[in-house]
Amino acid sequence: ALTTPTTTSATVPQPARIPERAATPRHFLMCPPTYFDVVYEINPWMDLGVPVDAGRALAQWEHLRATYEAYGHRVEVIDPVPGLPDMVYAANGGVVLGGRALAARFTYPERRPEGVAYEKWFAGADDGVTSLGQAVEQNEGEGDLLLAGDVMLAGTGFRTSRAAHAEVAALLGVEVVTLELVDPRYYHLDTALAVLDGGASPLVAYLPEAFSPASQAVLAERYPDAILATPEDAAVLGLNAVSDGRHVFLTDRATGMHARLRERGFEPVGVDLSELLKGGGSVKCCTLELRPAPATTPTSSP
Ligand code: ARG
Repeated sequence: ALTTPTTTSATVPQPARIPERAATPRHFLMCPPTYFDVVYEINPWMDLGVPVDAGRALAQWEHLRATYEAYGHRVEVIDPVPGLPDMVYAANGGVVLGGRALAARFTYPERRPEGVAYEKWFAGADDGVTSLGQAVEQNEGEGDLLLAGDVMLAGTGFRTSRAAHAEVAALLGVEVVTLELVDPRYYHLDTALAVLDGGASPLVAYLPEAFSPASQAVLAERYPDAILATPEDAAVLGLNAVSDGRHVFLTDRATGMHARLRERGFEPVGVDLSELLKGGGSVKCCTLELRPAPATTPTSSP
């Protein structure tokens, strides 16, 4: 029988409240995959037996860049260097906080010159970016360093060292929370965890089993309402995502993650980066965020 809303409102379960999400414009650095290839294997995704289509990689990358711009974000481009096939994964080039940029120091010799190239770019950037030079400790930039509100979540276990976490805390003046990665497929923090809302009460998505039991406990305590990814979504690098607070840019293959994001009020924006997956990276790997210095408010003298 039909009942009126006034008599049922107390007993009928209300649908979960979907929060209204607000986007803020971002400033990104990207590197075109002009010289992208798989010519060495430094993570389980890379397979010398699988050919790479560089033209296709470039078209997919151009599409990602155009997508960011279509959503109102600003994209800077660093010149690719011949002989550095992984340079397209710009997230690894360093970490920029408050306009201060610390360039990476890579684990593997094949990628080491990238740290120098990104350092040079930071030093030459005219746009409110100050270079702090290259990290002394083994540090793969935003691959392992993800800002969530006012803390820096920092991965270790495969690439970035614990000593690097301490260096980042000291040089960038930020609280660092160390998280230990245990699955070689999820060798960088940004393959196992995504920051969806970096505001006052941060929201993250992650794959619990990619972390040590102790780090799982840290994440559960800090982020009780986090989105827990499925192994299927993680396995297509569905956690390698970039969020502007409302739109979440991620692979179109992570369909389960798209659904979960919608449930939480986000708008998933799917992109195809299948060629770049062959190097072990997706959307976030291709994107370094240039976080500006806090705007100085003019103060009147006393
Ligand atoms: N082939 C690269 C490496 O193994 C991929 C880097 C992916 N970048 C990232 N931010 N997860 O170093």
